Amino acid sequence: MGRRTFLGLLGATAAGVALGGCGTAAGQTGEQIASALPLPPPFRVPLPVPPVARPVAPDRYLITQRVAEVEVLPGVRTPVLGYDGIFPGPTVEARRGRRIVVRHRNELPVPTVVHLHGGHTAPEHDGWPLDLVLPVGDTSDWSGHHGMVGDHSAGERDHVYDGEQRAATLWYHDHRMDFTGPAVHHGLAGFHLVRDDEEDALGLPRGERELPLMICDRSFAADGAFAYPSLDRSLRTLPGVEADWTEGVLGDVVLVNGAPWPVHEVDAARYRLRLLNASGARRYRLSLTVPGAPDLPLVQVGSDGGLLGAPVEHAAVELAPGERSDVVVDFGLVPVGTEVTVRNGLGRGTTADVLRFRVVRAAPDDSRVPAVLSEVEPLVVPADAPVRTWTFTRGPVGDHRGWTINGLPFRPDEPQARVPLGEVEVWRFVTDVHHPVHVHLDPFQVLRRGAGGPGPWDAGWKDTVDVRPAEIVDVAVRFADHRGRYVVHCHNLEHEDMAMMAALDTV
Ligand code: C2O
Ligand code: CU
Ligand code: CU
Repeated sequence: MGRRTFLGLLGATAAGVALGGCGTAAGQTGEQIASALPLPPPFRVPLPVPPVARPVAPDRYLITQRVAEVEVLPGVRTPVLGYDGIFPGPTVEARRGRRIVVRHRNELPVPTVVHLHGGHTAPEHDGWPLDLVLPVGDTSDWSGHHGMVGDHSAGERDHVYDGEQRAATLWYHDHRMDFTGPAVHHGLAGFHLVRDDEEDALGLPRGERELPLMICDRSFAADGAFAYPSLDRSLRTLPGVEADWTEGVLGDVVLVNGAPWPVHEVDAARYRLRLLNASGARRYRLSLTVPGAPDLPLVQVGSDGGLLGAPVEHAAVELAPGERSDVVVDFGLVPVGTEVTVRNGLGRGTTADVLRFRVVRAAPDDSRVPAVLSEVEPLVVPADAPVRTWTFTRGPVGDHRGWTINGLPFRPDEPQARVPLGEVEVWRFVTDVHHPVHVHLDPFQVLRRGAGGPGPWDAGWKDTVDVRPAEIVDVAVRFADHRGRYVVHCHNLEHEDMAMMAALDTV
C-alpha cells in the first residue's frame, strides 16, 4: 500500500498501539514492538563481522539482492531481504581516487533503490527514491504505483562511485520512496568503507583490531520474522508505515552486525570501532562500562565524513539513526580477564545493553592515535551567505497527516531549493520532535545549536545531525560538484517514508 493510498486512513488514527507496543522510551521517538519469542540472554552470541565484497573484475562488484533465511536468534530462522542474501550485506572496501562500479541485481519480489549514504555521488547513481531497480523478470508497470516515473532499470543497475572523497565510514541501504523503513528493517543495509593514504599513515588500529559495528534494533514475530507492522513472513509485499507507527518503529533486541547483544574476545590493546547507528528510529548513548571501575573513554577520531582534525575524548557517544562515529578504545587500560560492556544510556531493559568485549590476552600493540589526525578545512561562511531554513514538523497539510519539511510532504517533482555549486550556505534546521536530519551529496559542518556552539558529538564533517526537540541547529553546507536532483530528509525511516523529505537541485 503506497503512501497515497493510506493517507486517507490516517485521518482516523487509532489511539491504541498494535502488536503490544509498550510506549515511547526516554530520548526516543517511536513505539516499541514487543517480541513474541523468548529472547536469548545477552553476550552469548559471537560478534559477526560482515565479509568484504570480492571484486568480480578489477574495481567491479556484483551484489545480488535476494530473500534468504538467516539465524539471528539462536535456533530461529529469520527471513531477510539481503544484499547477497546476508544481513548486514557485504562490506564494500573502496579507495579514495579510485572509481568503482557496484552492480546491484534485484532477485527480490519488490523493487529497490540503492543509496550510498555519505557518498559524493553523481545524481544518476545516488539512489533517487524513484529510480527503481525492478525485480529480475518483473514486467509489471511500477510507474503507475506513484503516478511518477523515475529512471527504472530492469533487474540490474550499475552504481558508479568515483571515490572522490576522504576516507570515511559510509553505508549503503535501500532508499525506495515510501518503503525505506520496511526494506532496511528486513536487512537491506551494509558498510562501504573509503580508505586513503592519509589515514593509512596514521597508525590507527587495523586488521582484526578495526571493527565496523552496525547497531540496530529489531523485534521478532512468533514465527521468527523481524516484526514490522503488518508484514507477513513471505516478504512478498512490503507495507508502508501504518497509522499507529508514524512516530517510528522501535525493537526490543539490539543487534550488532546482525547478532543479538553479541560478545567479542579482544586483546588488551587499542581497537578502532566504526560505530554506525543503522536503526530506523532508535537513538543510542554508548558508553563502555567496566565492573567496579570507571568507564573506558571513547577517543573519537572520525565522524560521518571521515577523520577529525584532532581526537576528541568522550565518556559516551550519542548516535541518532544514520550517524557514524569512529572511535579508538584501549582495552590495554584494564586487566586481562575484564569484561567491558557497551551500554546504551538511552535504552531501558533489554535495549540498555548493546555488546560485550572480553579482554582475553595481553598482546603487543604498535598502534597510535596521533594528536593531529587530519586537516579539516573549516567552511568559512561569508557575511552575506544565504540562510536557508528547513523546518521539520508533523502535518497535517490537506489530507496528509504524516511528516513535512517546510510544511510540505515530499514532492519529487517540486524541488524546494536550488543550491549553487561551490557556495557556502547556512542551513538552519528547526524541529518539533527529534529528527535526525540527513543531506545527500556532500557533508556539512555544525556551526551552532541554538544559542550555544556545536554539541560534543558535532565535530568534523557530518552528513546527519541529530536535531533535538524544538531545537535550531545551524550548519554550513557547500556542494562541491555534481549538478542534479538530490534529497534532504529525516533519517527516522518512518518519518522519511511518511514524506519527511525534500528534493533539491544543485545548479
Ligand atoms: Cu541513509 Cu537518504 O539516506
Ligand atoms: Cu544518504
Ligand atoms: Cu523525523
